[in-house]
Amino acid sequence: MPRIASHAATVPASGIRRVTELAWATPGTIVLSVGEPDLPTAPHILAAAHDALDRDDTRYTPNGGIPHLRDALAARLDPTHALPVRRDNVWVTAGGAQALHLALSLTVGAGDEVLVPDPGYPPFSMAAHLLQATPHPYPLHAERGFLPDPADVEAAITDRTRLLVLNSPSNPLGTTLPDALVADLMAIARRHDLWVLSDECYAEFADGEHVPPAAHDTDGRVLTLHTFSKDHAMTGMRVGALVVPDQLAPLMPTVQEAIVSCVNTPAQYAALAALTGPQDDVETARATYAAHRALATEVLDGLGIPSLAARGGLYLWADLSHATDGDVAAFAEELVLRQGVAVAPGSAFGSRGEGWVRVSLTASADDLRTGLGRLPARG
Ligand SMILES: Cc1ncc(COP(=O)(O)O)c(C=O)c1O
Repeated sequence: MPRIASHAATVPASGIRRVTELAWATPGTIVLSVGEPDLPTAPHILAAAHDALDRDDTRYTPNGGIPHLRDALAARLDPTHALPVRRDNVWVTAGGAQALHLALSLTVGAGDEVLVPDPGYPPFSMAAHLLQATPHPYPLHAERGFLPDPADVEAAITDRTRLLVLNSPSNPLGTTLPDALVADLMAIARRHDLWVLSDECYAEFADGEHVPPAAHDTDGRVLTLHTFSKDHAMTGMRVGALVVPDQLAPLMPTVQEAIVSCVNTPAQYAALAALTGPQDDVETARATYAAHRALATEVLDGLGIPSLAARGGLYLWADLSHATDGDVAAFAEELVLRQGVAVAPGSAFGSRGEGWVRVSLTASADDLRTGLGRLPARG
């Protein structure tokens, strides 16, 4: 057999997927382990995709996406970024996942280091491995409410570090980065001449003001990831975007061409409708997930289980260390088999997640109430 690329084998398996697949294979399990919106996609978004199919608009689009979608995204984001956002800065991608791969393809190569949050979204590390780069976790401490300590970030930098990944609101934590902290992190990036990738997948679900690192970007080092997956319940449509600084613009057609050429055309029209049409679906999603967060917190409080006070995103981060015996991954599998409920084990997000679990607020209120009610009470 031909040799398999060795770096492909270094991509760690997803601990979330493992529990979720066990749950799917165990009938009757309540699944609280995945962030899949439980709300319908709005009719005007579906209609835009149908219309594109009906008029046979099924050919390639420009690499960067249909101009109207790029312009609409630029108009939406320009007021919140320090540097101008124009059509050429916006690249439509196949969901947030491809925006992540594109961002890393542009900024890191073999042997380079990428600073990723621990706990953090596992594909940050997986994508780095696939490009033969090395993910280097910067720790988020429970005592600091799981917010980054700039001193920890700076201490993790080596002469191979090229990219700092930030994610606010955070998956899995539900934390948001306050303005002063974003400013400090951007100052570190400038001091060490790093790229910054800001994953803003959950920006629409921030309580209070969302602070894009690009608001503090004075010299074009921030790449920003967006997706339509969560706020418009379009996970299977696969549309997102990467916003890049001017200096990367000349490279973009080639790199995008090599990865995906362009994104599914009807899906791009659906995204355009999502952005320019009525926004009631986003309002409904916000209200629904906020209510779910309150409900989940109440159930956990009733069981004496501490949880992190979330400020955004679609998840609740709960401390189950009283029941996990130092191995939350094994605990989560047992929970599926014995109690019929699946939560994502915190260790799937990095070593700092040991003892914690992530609860997805996208499940129905009934599932949250019943499923969380099956967790072991504390004390
Ligand atoms: C933090 C974060 N970034 C990126 C993505 C990927 O988004 P998409 O589903 O649009 O590929 C997700 C999806 O869960 C996510 O949580």
